[in-house]
Amino acid sequence: MKNKNVLITGGARGIGAACAEELATRGARILLADIDGDVVAAKAAEFQRQGLVVEAISADVTNEADIQSIVSDIEKRWGGQLDVLVNNAAILDSTSLDDLNCDRFNQVQNVNQNSVLWVTLAMRPLLKRSDAARVVNVASILGVLGTPDSVAYATAKGGVINMTRALAIDLADDGILVNCICPGFVDTRMALLPDGSGHEHETVQFQDTYIKYGRIPLKRVGQPEDIAKALTFFCSDACGYVTGQHLLVDGGVTSIL
Ligand SMILES: NC(=O)c1ccc[n+]([C@@H]2O[C@H](COP(=O)([O-])OP(=O)(O)OC[C@H]3O[C@@H](n4cnc5c(N)ncnc54)[C@H](O)[C@@H]3O)[C@@H](O)[C@H]2O)c1
Repeated sequence: MKNKNVLITGGARGIGAACAEELATRGARILLADIDGDVVAAKAAEFQRQGLVVEAISADVTNEADIQSIVSDIEKRWGGQLDVLVNNAAILDSTSLDDLNCDRFNQVQNVNQNSVLWVTLAMRPLLKRSDAARVVNVASILGVLGTPDSVAYATAKGGVINMTRALAIDLADDGILVNCICPGFVDTRMALLPDGSGHEHETVQFQDTYIKYGRIPLKRVGQPEDIAKALTFFCSDACGYVTGQHLLVDGGVTSIL
């Protein structure tokens, strides 16, 4: 990853931040783009204190002007060359069918699915300048399975997996390889679910039940670093003949009936 320029959306915390640390430790230059401007700036400063080359920009990936400001930032910062784009930003949704409305459904599709397309298209000219360009989308095991109250989220994540295939075909002539990572249960802020009372309860109990009944063959919840390590393959030169694929990094949870 030495001297590669990497953009990670939703990089203020969780999986995005772990990916930044992993890739920067391997010599990449990172730009984190996140809607939480203060948090992402603090995270980049924390990495810089560790000697890593990580910068931050405040941006909402559903906002066209914000996406253009990321392009301008990369033009200024790196002379307009981008080697790796990690489309990681997303929000959780567990709205029941009874409560789901059009606005909420569309919001989840905008953040979790549509932004993957618009950010990728905006970065396409910058990626074309790289001789080993990669796009890695972060979907979910809920892109291949459903759970109760997951219609909006699962629809978006399933869309990201198939968008990965379609983009891989259309961007092949530009030399851009497109792949996808599908995390299972990972210990991040997203593993906090609203309980309907305005408070949040941890899904740890739910995850514990999965472990207790042997539903996670590797018998532990994933850590953000587990995802970052798997993602590194798709970002690297080792991945030269793989495109349009999705890899489930889930401790085996989707392998068991
Ligand atoms: N944690 C899990 O168990 C799990 C499981 C499967 C998939 N995932 C996926 O992994 C990715 C990372 O999730 P995480 O667990 O680190 O969650 P997280 O909530 O810790 O991090 C998500 C980040 O995205 C940012 N973000 C949200 N909306 C944004 C927007 N409109 N523009 C820019 N940034 C935005 C948030 O501010 C946050 O920093 C997501 O795509 C998520 O769907 C997570």
